Amino acid sequence: MRRTHTCGELKPSDIGSKVCLEGWVRFSRDHGGVAFIDLADRYGVTQVVFDPEDTPIGINVSALSNTLKTFTRESVISVNGIVRKRIAGTEDDRSSTGRVEVLITSAELLNKSAVPPFEIGDQKEGALPNEDIRLEYRYMDLRRTEMIHAIEFRSRFLHLARQYFESQNFLEIETPILARGTPEGARDYIVPSRINSGKFYALPQSPQLYKQMLMIAGLDRYYQIAKCFRDEDSRKDRQPEFTQLDIEMSFVDESDIQSYVENMLAYVWKGLYNRDLQTPFPRISYIEAMEKYGSDKPDLRYELQLENLTNIFKETNYEILRKIVADGGIVVGINVSHNILKEKIGRNDIDRYINLAKKFGLGGLTWARVVNGELESNIVKYFTSKNKIDIKNIMDAKNGDLIFLMAGPKRRTLEGAGLMRKQLATDLDLIPKNTFQFHWLVDCPMFEIDPISGKKDAFHHPFVLPYDNFKKGACFDILLNGNELGSGSMRINKPEIQIDVFHQIGLSDEEIEKNFGWFVKALGYGAPPHGGVAIGIDRIISILLNKETIRDTIAFPKNKKAQSLVDKSPSRIDSERLEELQLISMADDDADLPAIEEYTDEQLQG
Ligand code: AMO
Repeated sequence: MRRTHTCGELKPSDIGSKVCLEGWVRFSRDHGGVAFIDLADRYGVTQVVFDPEDTPIGINVSALSNTLKTFTRESVISVNGIVRKRIAGTEDDRSSTGRVEVLITSAELLNKSAVPPFEIGDQKEGALPNEDIRLEYRYMDLRRTEMIHAIEFRSRFLHLARQYFESQNFLEIETPILARGTPEGARDYIVPSRINSGKFYALPQSPQLYKQMLMIAGLDRYYQIAKCFRDEDSRKDRQPEFTQLDIEMSFVDESDIQSYVENMLAYVWKGLYNRDLQTPFPRISYIEAMEKYGSDKPDLRYELQLENLTNIFKETNYEILRKIVADGGIVVGINVSHNILKEKIGRNDIDRYINLAKKFGLGGLTWARVVNGELESNIVKYFTSKNKIDIKNIMDAKNGDLIFLMAGPKRRTLEGAGLMRKQLATDLDLIPKNTFQFHWLVDCPMFEIDPISGKKDAFHHPFVLPYDNFKKGACFDILLNGNELGSGSMRINKPEIQIDVFHQIGLSDEEIEKNFGWFVKALGYGAPPHGGVAIGIDRIISILLNKETIRDTIAFPKNKKAQSLVDKSPSRIDSERLEELQLISMADDDADLPAIEEYTDEQLQG
């Protein structure tokens, strides 16, 4: 090894040793001829010092001084020297190396850095440049401590997960990237085949059908840290290319799969935090989640439940609510109890919530306060006395409480009220920090009707085992702090049931044969009972590290426009190549597309 130590290693016990350090010049300053350099690498920062007075005899001080002058910020250098104690009063106990420094005896510029596009040192909040700059210079951004920590944490997480699965007899099996494509509800990325001209591979949206075939093959326990590709609009928790911790098992049921996930997470938890993770995770049914929390991924770190008030308003003088209920809609209420309200929401703020209600897809928002045991607001005069008593009872309303009522078509109203619940929790500071609440969403439907197109579709995907006469699917989600971390299910293992499900989501026999004939055939060769789950790695890491976006947990993510700014992809390709692939007509269309640099910041923010 060229270096004797990393930049995060030297301690007082090393004082007097001769060492060689290599790393980047993070920061340098000159105090009257004495030069201090913060030499940084992945492991930390060590102060190295050029001190002409103290430099051992026989060293050419002026040559050394000239070399040091070439050390610009972020250049990579090599330094030999002697570890010494820092002068009293200059120690830095925030740094593990802060009690020592290295007196330079020789130094070499290994490679000069161009002027860094932004400061790499630990940033004060808000001091970072726009994210696109960070992504363009990702190799510089990844030098920041916060990014190094995220990358190390992710690596450690994956390592521990692998250890767990290996200990439980799982096989790590890679599945194809150039594939037939597995539908998970997004668009496929497609790759043209030169040898089979006019034909395309699809990049897998998940390894779903491959892992099921591995079970048909009898391989019994599979896991993979799998790359998945989905051509969908980017969001804070979505990337076109992301990673799943993917699992499949034979001869198990739903609760077995859930236990393996819990035990894996408990193992990882112990390794990461040296703490026990409470298992099993609580379970909540889909219906309860929707009706009590207005979400299929409720955050259970705080209460603020929805109450169903529909029956109360079957008879009321308040025309709007009566009509909604008569038309089959619902009325839900949230009681913002005086204990949590603490005067934080006044009359003026209520208008803000009324505006937000529209944004959340709600028809509107009606409110009332409880004063001297009575409901008060501009609409309570339309309520019958029975309405008022019933509301107070169901909402358990006490003096000082604020009650929000939301009404409309069932699903939209529940979802809108769920968003309102989340907003209130944020505004009232009800969400505990550094609490990780895992749970399972269970008892899910097999199908759902798309509220816009009216089309029947699989609730998860069409490979889920249906039960209860197709009303329910043997599927579940794992949730963490109001986020969907992953989903899993028992699978259909009989060809006739698979075909039936395809029919129910509107596929014709021809479509089934063309797209899934090969898979249905495989099910006919002794497919065992099997099931599995996939956990979004980017998501779990970003939640555990409290990151705003999963982009901060991925070494080279795409930006909000699905572009990789560091290597400028996607990019145009030569017309000869397009011709070879028989895609030449695209070359002409492409001529009108704006180049990456032409997007404005505003477009990228969108
Ligand atoms: P699903 O589509 O629910 O299930 O995906 C599982 C988990 O993968 C993560 N995820 C994403 N993460 C980042 N960017 C994306 N675009 C993205 N899409 C999904 C989420 C999600 O919960 N084959 C099934 C699993 C199974 O049934 O075994 C599947 O892929 O965390």
